[in-house]
Amino acid sequence: MKKEHKRDLLLIAIGIGIVAFLWAAPKETTTHMPTDDTHRPYYELVQKEGKKAAEAHCEECHNDQGVVFPKDHPPKLRCLFCHKLNK
Ligand code: HEC
Ligand code: HEC
Repeated sequence: MKKEHKRDLLLIAIGIGIVAFLWAAPKETTTHMPTDDTHRPYYELVQKEGKKAAEAHCEECHNDQGVVFPKDHPPKLRCLFCHKLNK
């Protein structure tokens, strides 16, 4: 087989691999950040200054005294990594 053909087949194989990987990825099920009046400012902050800037505020309300987390909540760094924004 010609060298170029081998390379083409390799690229096709890699392409199929990537598609298969994305296909198999688990469906996103974690609750999104609500689009209500409480959270709207943070959508704006994400737009203006990025996710990290917005996440700095989440625990002002989401804490043991406020809106408590579910008991089995995973480690909470980077809220928006798991709780996606509504489009
Ligand atoms: C000013 C207080 C406040 C701040 C700041 C805040 N939240 Fe909330 N959040 C609430 C309240 C109150 C609820 C429960 C009622 C509701 O759904 O609005 C809630 C609910 C949620 C829920 C669950 C929604 C559901 O469907 O059960 C998620 C996820 C969430 N917030 C994510 C975030 C993230 C991420 C941030 C930071 C970017 C954030 N919140 C900042 C007050 C706040
Ligand atoms: C590693 C992923 C991850 C991170 C990071 C994370 N969470 Fe969660 N959170 C979850 C999962 C999983 C649940 C369980 C319920 C679900 O599927 O939404 C949950 C539940 C919640 C709930 C209750 C939602 C409901 O439907 O009852 C709130 C509120 C919440 N998280 C807020 C936050 C906030 C605020 C932060 C950042 C301080 C944060 N989470 C960081 C994965 C994450």
